[in-house]
Amino acid sequence: MKNLVIYYSHTGENYFGGGLKNISKGNTEVVAEQIAKATGADLFKVETVNTYPNGYYACCDVAKDELHANARPKLKKELKSLDGYDNIFIGYPIWWGTLPMGMFTQLEKLDFHGKNVFPFSTHEGSGLGNSMGDIKKLCAGANVGSGLPIQGSTVYASEAKVADWAKKCVK
Ligand SMILES: Cc1cc2nc3c(=O)[nH]c(=O)nc-3n(C[C@H](O)[C@H](O)[C@H](O)COP(=O)(O)O)c2cc1C
Repeated sequence: MKNLVIYYSHTGENYFGGGLKNISKGNTEVVAEQIAKATGADLFKVETVNTYPNGYYACCDVAKDELHANARPKLKKELKSLDGYDNIFIGYPIWWGTLPMGMFTQLEKLDFHGKNVFPFSTHEGSGLGNSMGDIKKLCAGANVGSGLPIQGSTVYASEAKVADWAKKCVK
C-alpha cells in the first residue's frame, strides 16, 4: 500500500489561544511530517503563487474574501495524478470554517475514485468545521474516513496520537 499526504500550511503570524506568535513552520506541516514518519507516506505541499500577508488579521481578511468569491488561487505546482497511491491523507488549517481555497484548486484536479481519503485539520477551536462536507464533494468517488482535528497550539505534543491514528488508517 502506498501512502501520500497532500497538505497546505501557512507560516508567519498566527493566533495561539490568546496571543499572536510568529511561526517558521506551520502547524499543519508539523502534523503532515508526523504522518509521513509514522506511515512512510510521501509529502506533497500545496503552495499558492500569491502569498498571503504575514500579519494574522490581514491574512484573515484575504482568506475571507477568497472564500466569499469561491476563488481558486493559482498554485506554484500542481499534483497531476494519484496513480500508484492507495491512501491519501489531506491536511489543512481551518480557515473560516473550511479548507484554504488553494486546497480546492488542487483537489479538484485529481481523480479520487477508489482511493481511501483521511482528512486532518489543525485549528484554534473549530475542529474540522465544515471541511468534511467539502472534502466529500472535492474527492468524489473516494472512501472518506473520519477526520482527525488537532488544535494548532498542541501539534508537537500530539505526535503519539497522530501516529496512532495514521497507522490505523493505513492498516
Ligand atoms: C486566515 C485564517 C483563518 C482561520 N480561521 C479559523 C477558523 O475558522 N477556525 C479555527 O478554529 N481556526 C482558524 N484559524 C486558525 C488556524 O486554523 C490554526 O492556527 C492552524 O493551526 C494554522 O495552521 P498552519 O500553521 O498549518 O497554517 C484561522 C487562521 C487563519 C490564518
